[in-house]
Amino acid sequence: MKKLHIAALSVALVAFGASTVAWSDDDDDDGGRKGKSEHSERGGRAGLGPVTNERYLTECGGCHFAYLPGLLPAASWGQVMDTLDKHYGDDATLEPAVKDELLAYLEANAADRGAKGKTRFTAPPAGKEPPRITQTAYFTRKHDEVPVSQVKDNPKVGSFSNCQACHPGADKGNFNEDAVVIPGFGAYKD
Ligand code: HEC
Ligand code: HEC
Repeated sequence: MKKLHIAALSVALVAFGASTVAWSDDDDDDGGRKGKSEHSERGGRAGLGPVTNERYLTECGGCHFAYLPGLLPAASWGQVMDTLDKHYGDDATLEPAVKDELLAYLEANAADRGAKGKTRFTAPPAGKEPPRITQTAYFTRKHDEVPVSQVKDNPKVGSFSNCQACHPGADKGNFNEDAVVIPGFGAYKD
């Protein structure tokens, strides 16, 4: 019962958070999260919806968590998919037709397109590597207080790229801070 309640609540929170973002610069207070929101009645998850493409799950969920399309804007996904042969030190090359299909899926559901609403994730600064979710402004702001001992030096996590290690509902688009559990450290408290 309690679990169900929390699940419903976090869907509402994610829906609210996701639909307010792209244009909000400072969201750290997340004003209104705890209260009602005009968006929470839409019922759906705005923005960070789960992966709905089976092929994406298979092709992009084998080496790591299948990152939700709403975690990067369309142009960044384009860069990721155009550099699969040099994929953060790995080779993730796909057949061109498969690549095109997956790119179309990512773009249609990207952070700035959002068939399900926009999200707070904007393009990270350009670098030598393809773009990283973990280098977007929103990501770094949200995680800057999590100590290295709980991430890189934590054998059960290893890297921030490993979303679902700390966000058990990540595959459903639930990144609610109240649901964070850091392996070996327990529920997260500010
Ligand atoms: C052969 C293994 C492999 C496959 C297949 C693969 N990746 Fe990756 N991916 C990696 C590695 C390794 C990293 C770097 C992880 C790290 O730094 O901890 C990575 C990182 C990423 C990141 C950056 C995560 C961050 O740190 O913000 C994105 C985005 C990404 N992959 C998307 C994809 C997509 C989309 C596909 C499918 C087309 C895919 N990956 C398939 C190995 C793979
Ligand atoms: C080491 C554990 C850890 C990993 C790995 C991690 N996170 Fe988090 N995340 C946290 C913690 C802790 C918070 C809450 C931070 C706070 O509120 O101060 C958080 C907060 C968030 C939030 C904001 C949620 C809210 O309610 O405001 C989002 C979105 C998020 N994470 C996405 C991601 C994504 C996407 C990934 C993978 C690319 C990821 N996280 C990887 C620990 C982690």
